[in-house]
Amino acid sequence: MPDMLVKLYNLPAMEPHALKMKEEGVVIRMAAAYDKYFVLEWVTGHFSKAWASECDRAFSNQPVSCFIAIKDGRMMGFACYDCTRLDVFGPTGVDESLRGRGVGKALCMAAMHAMAAKGYAYAIIGWVGPADFYSKLVGATLIEDSTPGMYKDMLKA
Ligand SMILES: CC(C)(COP(=O)(O)OP(=O)(O)OC[C@H]1O[C@@H](n2cnc3c(N)ncnc32)[C@H](O)[C@@H]1OP(=O)(O)O)[C@@H](O)C(=O)NCCC(=O)NCCS
Repeated sequence: MPDMLVKLYNLPAMEPHALKMKEEGVVIRMAAAYDKYFVLEWVTGHFSKAWASECDRAFSNQPVSCFIAIKDGRMMGFACYDCTRLDVFGPTGVDESLRGRGVGKALCMAAMHAMAAKGYAYAIIGWVGPADFYSKLVGATLIEDSTPGMYKDMLKA
């Protein structure tokens, strides 16, 4: 799976996504220290130990480099950055039964805006699955010869 590059200096506005989430009663916020074990358990259960390991890293960063989506106290999805490597977005994911409601976009935008605010000019999206999702949302472009890139020689589950 290739990596993608995003021009953070051309990032679309967060407001339409924030407004949509507000209308749907979804809270998008930075994860806090007290969320750590809930989030890691959720990521392991919905995705993998590898993603939970990367997400764990977010809780060692200051500020925590993970955003979560919550409705009625329940987690819907997450998006991290500065975990796999500095300046790398991901992992991210939404509960399969709750996809298609704008949560994935809002989480991605929240994390990308945090990366821009940190001072990064570009973001790298690591090991991309849904390339069209990122090219439409933030104008991401594929990075040539980036497979397996930074993810080589990984342990197998
Ligand atoms: C990718 C993901 C986070 C999107 O979350 P979501 O909440 O369903 O996304 P949203 O509802 O905000 O956005 C839906 C839009 O994204 C598009 N989209 C969703 N998944 C897509 C995919 N795999 N490929 C291309 N486009 C996709 C939809 O077609 C829709 O487009 P539209 O707005 O033009 O109608 C979610 O599908 C997911 O968790 N996937 C599995 C984990 C994953 O692949 N993570 C990314 C690793 S780099």
